[in-house]
Amino acid sequence: MSYHPQGIPAHGGQLVNRIATPEQKEIFLSKAEFLPCVQLDQRAVSDLEMIAIGGFSPLTGFMNQQDYDRVVAEMRLANGTVWSIPITLSVSEEVAASLTEGGLVRLDNPEGRFIGVLELTQKYRYDKQREAINVYRTDEEKHPGVQVVYNQGPVNLAGDVWLLERDRHPYFPSYQIDPAESRQLFQQKGWKTVVGFQTRNPIHRAHEYIQKCALETVDGLFLHPLVGATKDDDIPADVRMRCYEILLEHYYPENRVILAINPSAMRYAGPREAIFHALIRKNYGCTHFIVGRDHAGVGDYYGTYDAQYIFAEFKPEEIGITPMMFEHAFYCTRTKQMATTKTSPSKPEERIHLSGTKVREMLRRGELPPPEFSRPEVAAELARAMKVPV
Ligand code: ADX
Repeated sequence: MSYHPQGIPAHGGQLVNRIATPEQKEIFLSKAEFLPCVQLDQRAVSDLEMIAIGGFSPLTGFMNQQDYDRVVAEMRLANGTVWSIPITLSVSEEVAASLTEGGLVRLDNPEGRFIGVLELTQKYRYDKQREAINVYRTDEEKHPGVQVVYNQGPVNLAGDVWLLERDRHPYFPSYQIDPAESRQLFQQKGWKTVVGFQTRNPIHRAHEYIQKCALETVDGLFLHPLVGATKDDDIPADVRMRCYEILLEHYYPENRVILAINPSAMRYAGPREAIFHALIRKNYGCTHFIVGRDHAGVGDYYGTYDAQYIFAEFKPEEIGITPMMFEHAFYCTRTKQMATTKTSPSKPEERIHLSGTKVREMLRRGELPPPEFSRPEVAAELARAMKVPV
């Protein structure tokens, strides 16, 4: 990939900024009581935030039918730009009927605070099953991403948005770094190449291994755990962030890593979400993005490396960020180090790997994950957070 002295361009060319200026905010606030209102759920709040800060560039609002249809069918916006996940605002028939195309809509957060405005350009019905099968590769309701689609309203509202208000994150204010800021930080540090890392799970040694393998060949690591909505049995974001802090303190060099939160909600869409996750990190200024085993997968819905294969469906310049693919990593008891089958002569019984589900079960049973799987300081923190006696 060619080197960009001003940093890698945002997806679509321009980093989007839809945060209302103080003047715009004043105008919107003066109209507040006259505007029809839609109450957002947690996912819609994080989508609004991601659009506004440019994390979803080139999107400037919630998708209209032309973009939505082509994204679902072909992983492209109507203008051909690659985009793999629908970003939609769904409401009930009743709410939709109360809104007029061409008008402004007040967007409230779940607590009823006025946080954004939608310029409603289109209302459209959509086929949930088609979205499920194309985006999630299944229409089973027990898939957590499909479940969200099936539970949401039948009408999508489209149009550009403005974000009026955003609190500092209650738990992680210092890690709330927007794409414009991360780009600046990378420049300040003189990093020409930066690898982004997506995660929704507590850090384990396979994560650490693939991050460090990647870091051997690039200038910096952008650790970007997702803190938006996840499924109920995933480990809460504050626990995961503490594990990261502990790990960085003990096991990483001080000047090679930036930890920041990704406010998006998890979709569990496997391959399509890997593309989406890569494009988001490109918007944050990363030049590379890690895709390991079963990226953004859940249950057995996706093949172990499907999220890697999907990148071959596009020309590299259409994606514009370089995926760094890693095989399933484990601790090898024969060579006494982290490895994959590319680098270790081990037999299956000489490989220590635990799934997230297994670790959660162990913690619930009062057992700590072994040091071959998890750094002891991280295991102790997980145990503390899950109230396991150490
Ligand atoms: S994800 O839903 O955010 O992808 P997770 O936090 O477990 O889940 O994974 C973060 C990244 O690490 C993903 O790219 C995933 O593919 C990769 N990964 C997780 N475990 C392993 C492993 N044992 N070997 C290789 N890659 C892994």
